[in-house]
Amino acid sequence: MKIGIVGGTGREGRGLAVRWAKAGHDVFIGSRQAEKGAAKAAEFSKEFGVSVQGADNVAACEHAELIVVTVPYGAHRPTFDSIKDVVGDKVIVDITVPLQPPKVRSVNLPEGQAAALEARTLLNEGARLVAALHHISSEHLSNPAHTFDCDVLVCGDDKEARAAVISLVADLGLRGIDAGVLKNAIALESITPVLLHINRRYKSVGSGIRITGIPETE
Ligand SMILES: NC(=O)c1ccc[n+]([C@@H]2O[C@H](COP(=O)([O-])OP(=O)(O)OC[C@H]3O[C@@H](n4cnc5c(N)ncnc54)[C@H](OP(=O)(O)O)[C@@H]3O)[C@@H](O)[C@H]2O)c1
Repeated sequence: MKIGIVGGTGREGRGLAVRWAKAGHDVFIGSRQAEKGAAKAAEFSKEFGVSVQGADNVAACEHAELIVVTVPYGAHRPTFDSIKDVVGDKVIVDITVPLQPPKVRSVNLPEGQAAALEARTLLNEGARLVAALHHISSEHLSNPAHTFDCDVLVCGDDKEARAAVISLVADLGLRGIDAGVLKNAIALESITPVLLHINRRYKSVGSGIRITGIPETE
């Protein structure tokens, strides 16, 4: 699949780009600056022996069949404003956690209750928005030797879009779990500060969550 990663020059973008490229996807990372996007794509490709393209965020969205937005919450609104007219009816995945530095280990409910719910108001009608990957450490994603034992909870109002993202999550080496409607992003985004607390308390790196009790047939 053609995957465009908005803000793909950063930490999460790097890990996602490399893992999806290794899985055979056509990955295009975006940046606010086309030159930086191209340079980072070349850097990731060389470092990990994969082929990743890069330019600006709009080009990444235009190239893609599915878009993933990986920017800090402080950049969330301007980033969605800058791409909303090129998203169309493509599935768009928001991984944003609305952290409020320096209090990143304490839940911050933004004005719209969740970054993903705010994103829905920023996109044009018909956008197929999914929220996922809030609990997956960039350090683990970027380490090809790391094997995940945690899950990715995927929510959104379009069932087919959720299924498409769950399938892509599998290509990262993770189990995706259908977590229902987009409103549930309020809960999903709120787990990350708890995990950041756990990391500090137990000196763990990238603690995650695992859902139990799901039948093997699923
Ligand atoms: N890091 C993690 O382990 C992790 C785990 C789960 C979820 N998340 C979530 O994933 C998202 C991305 O995290 P990250 O650690 O990858 O972020 P990051 O590396 O700090 O930033 C990602 C990219 O966002 C763009 N950016 C940064 N500041 C910006 C600004 N003020 N305005 C516009 N664009 C800006 C930059 O791209 P350009 O300069 O190229 O435009 C940057 O490379 C966050 O919402 C975070 O909560 C992170």
